[in-house]
Amino acid sequence: MFFPRLALASIIFISSCLTITFTSGATLANDEVEALKIIGRTLGKTDWDFSVDPCSGDKNWNLINDHDAVDANGVACNCTFDNNKTCHVVSILLKAQNLSGTLPPELANLAFLQEIDLTLNYLSGTIPSDWGSLQLVNISLYGNRLTGSIPREWANLSSLTRLVLQQNQFSGNLPPALGNLPKIDAMVLSSNNFTGELPETFANLIAMKQFGISDNNFTGNIPKFIFQNWTKLQEIYFQGSGLRGPIPTIDSLENLTYMILRSCNLIGELPASLGEYTNLKTLDVSFNRLIGEIPPSLSALNVSLNQL
Ligand SMILES: *[C@@H]1O[C@H](CO)[C@@H](O)[C@H](O)[C@H]1NC(C)=O
Ligand SMILES: *[C@@H]1O[C@H](CO)[C@@H](O)[C@H](O)[C@H]1NC(C)=O
Ligand SMILES: *[C@@H]1O[C@H](CO)[C@@H](O)[C@H](O)[C@H]1NC(C)=O
Ligand SMILES: *[C@@H]1O[C@H](CO)[C@@H](O)[C@H](O)[C@H]1NC(C)=O
Ligand SMILES: *[C@@H]1O[C@H](CO)[C@@H](O)[C@H](O)[C@H]1NC(C)=O
Ligand SMILES: *[C@@H]1O[C@H](CO)[C@@H](O)[C@H](O)[C@H]1NC(C)=O
Ligand SMILES: *[C@@H]1O[C@H](CO)[C@@H](O)[C@H](O)[C@H]1NC(C)=O
Ligand SMILES: *[C@@H]1O[C@H](CO)[C@@H](O)[C@H](O)[C@H]1NC(C)=O
Ligand SMILES: *[C@@H]1O[C@H](CO)[C@@H](O)[C@H](O)[C@H]1NC(C)=O
Repeated sequence: MFFPRLALASIIFISSCLTITFTSGATLANDEVEALKIIGRTLGKTDWDFSVDPCSGDKNWNLINDHDAVDANGVACNCTFDNNKTCHVVSILLKAQNLSGTLPPELANLAFLQEIDLTLNYLSGTIPSDWGSLQLVNISLYGNRLTGSIPREWANLSSLTRLVLQQNQFSGNLPPALGNLPKIDAMVLSSNNFTGELPETFANLIAMKQFGISDNNFTGNIPKFIFQNWTKLQEIYFQGSGLRGPIPTIDSLENLTYMILRSCNLIGELPASLGEYTNLKTLDVSFNRLIGEIPPSLSALNVSLNQL
């Protein structure tokens, strides 16, 4: 590595003579650089190199090219502030990076952050309530070793559209105040140890398209509002959630595509109205105690009624 380093040194020397190259580049606000140092340390992100600007894309500061890549690893900045001189961090994606630390409260110091994705790491500890002060749009903590409950302060995340906490060891009841976040269109809480009933306030979450709570310890019946008020619903995953049937009357869910109600202690008959949902691709009501016949309206659809 001797030669590349030497080459880099001479480039820096040359360009520092041509000061224009440097002064025209926008840089990350100082307080955010300091916050990132703490955030990296707390998460266990050891390869962030602070000898260069975190918004430069140099060294290990990857710019996010493919948002959906399973190992997306990078920081995205908005550099249009202060006449294109100042950057703020808007997105941090550290998926499958073997991080083994804890969640940093200092994330709250990145005031412009819209997205945090720490999918598939080994992070432990609880969720910092401080994050509730941010204008986060997307949160994914999918596949870690996190514990504790969802802080009630998160009721202030008024921009939140996507909350993915799947496959951790979260517990406790869901804060009713989360029902005040009407932009949420995806909430995936599957494979945790959440308890209690789904709060009635969730009837307000009318943007919901994807809702997954499989493999938890919830109690109570499947709430009516899911089928009455969440008219945009496309996918629901309830298998082993703890919730019980009957299946409430379904009013109008024209875009329902996946409905997984496996092992839900469902009783009674399947609502005939299900047959009206021409977009329904998978209906799984296996391992329940349903009675009666498959409604003729359903047999016309391409639906897998596993072990009814
Ligand atoms: C950057 O921030 C400005 C000011 O908030 C905003 O108008 C603009 O849309 C942002 N740019 C991007 C690419 O998000
Ligand atoms: C900032 O940069 C953008 C894109 O290069 C440009 O369109 C805009 O006019 C610049 N704004 C200022 C205030 O210099
Ligand atoms: C994470 O650890 C595994 C196993 O040691 C290794 O194969 C993989 O490359 C590591 N990933 C990263 C991004 O460091
Ligand atoms: C939030 O996530 C969605 C889906 O991955 C993505 O399309 C969108 O751009 C993200 N929004 C922000 C503000 O990061
Ligand atoms: C939400 O933010 C407001 C204003 O900053 C604050 O007064 C309130 O206590 C916060 N709510 C929660 C539940 O943290
Ligand atoms: C789930 O919570 C119950 C009751 O609090 C507890 O007994 C059980 O060990 C927890 N399970 C997991 C996987 O955390
Ligand atoms: C639910 O709670 C029971 C006992 O309270 C526990 O045995 C079981 O493991 C819990 N289920 C999950 C998915 O944690
Ligand atoms: C849910 O839908 C029912 C029936 O349409 C309606 O009476 C109720 O006001 C709705 N609730 C909310 C919170 O929108
Ligand atoms: C169903 O999906 C179509 C096509 O994406 C969309 O135009 C329509 O608004 C959706 N309906 C509801 C109730 O969300």
